[in-house]
Amino acid sequence: MQYKKLGNSDLNVSVVALGTWGLGGGSVWSDRDSTAAEAARLLDACKDHGINYIDTAPVYGTGASEELLGAALAGRRHDFVLQTKCSLNWRGEGGNFHYSRDGYTVNNDTRPEAIRRDVEDSLRRMKTDYLDSLIVHYVCKSFPVADTVGVLEDLIREGKIRAYGLSNSQPADLEEYQNAPQKRQGVSVVQEFFSILSPFHGRDYFPFCEKYNTSFQTYGVLEEGFLTGPAFLEKRFAKTDIRARIPWVEEKYHDGLRKAFAAWTPLCEARGCSFAQLVEAWALAQFPNMSLLVGMRKSANVADTVRCLDLRLSPRELEMMEESVRGIQVAVLDK
Ligand SMILES: NC(=O)c1ccc[n+]([C@@H]2O[C@H](COP(=O)([O-])OP(=O)(O)OC[C@H]3O[C@@H](n4cnc5c(N)ncnc54)[C@H](OP(=O)(O)O)[C@@H]3O)[C@@H](O)[C@H]2O)c1
Repeated sequence: MQYKKLGNSDLNVSVVALGTWGLGGGSVWSDRDSTAAEAARLLDACKDHGINYIDTAPVYGTGASEELLGAALAGRRHDFVLQTKCSLNWRGEGGNFHYSRDGYTVNNDTRPEAIRRDVEDSLRRMKTDYLDSLIVHYVCKSFPVADTVGVLEDLIREGKIRAYGLSNSQPADLEEYQNAPQKRQGVSVVQEFFSILSPFHGRDYFPFCEKYNTSFQTYGVLEEGFLTGPAFLEKRFAKTDIRARIPWVEEKYHDGLRKAFAAWTPLCEARGCSFAQLVEAWALAQFPNMSLLVGMRKSANVADTVRCLDLRLSPRELEMMEESVRGIQVAVLDK
């Protein structure tokens, strides 16, 4: 495993991070609900392979992902760098409507009092007294950014969090957070959609991450499974499932995806790697301060994923890979 500082913070994080949206189950990850024993085994696998960085959010399974992690972290909390999110909550205390799902109405609220309640709720669910990193899940223009930065910096001073970040944001949001008068430590990480099928938003962001020494953290680098190989295209999911709602489920993309897998096959065979490892190695090659966040529920996938770090692709191979999907790339993805 390779480790890097998370942006300008003192957190030493594995380059591969564990994503736990799927662990939360519910109607968006409808194929299976994970058990506490499975969550514990997943963390065992992470530890065995050197992954110390875990990402979750209150809304993943409406509390379920955080609760499963809380149980799995018992007795080994300090072995992991724990990152959760704030702003999306289902307490019914105001903010902007974000979505209704599984009988819950989720609002987006970046006001200081809401963020403090989010942190207390996450600490309780995960049975810990500090969070290593706290990400504003959806940046929001309705409430003053200076107030949000103020409470995030206060939470650092109080020892409740050690770093903070932004998600579903634009470079202009990073600029605004970094230039707020309340800023001390500043934004350590931005977590944004990024994959070989949707690389443009990340590319717009990289110069700003460089300017502020902020890590860029991918989400959806495997496009929720669609980049793991042609067999995935045959799978069917419930209407509510994320994998039935992203563009790649549409037949019109399948020809392009199949052609890309065919073009990448000789490279996979020559390197003895999976398609997943190949597109992960491609992503890592795009920016030096990259944190590769991958959603995994199976220990076997943890073992497979970490091997992407051993792959070195030449500029020609990287270009060939992207050329194969040029016709189906999209600019914006809403997950
Ligand atoms: N900030 C945001 O708004 C936002 C949005 C989306 C996601 N996220 C975060 O980013 C994380 C990653 O995104 P994601 O989980 O949506 O999608 P992803 O990482 O693109 O894909 C996850 C899927 O890939 C499978 N997988 C993982 N490694 C594999 C391998 N080596 N071979 C074959 N299949 C493999 C997983 O299977 P198994 O689960 O069966 O192991 C899972 O079904 C999330 O878990 C979450 O923490 C954040």
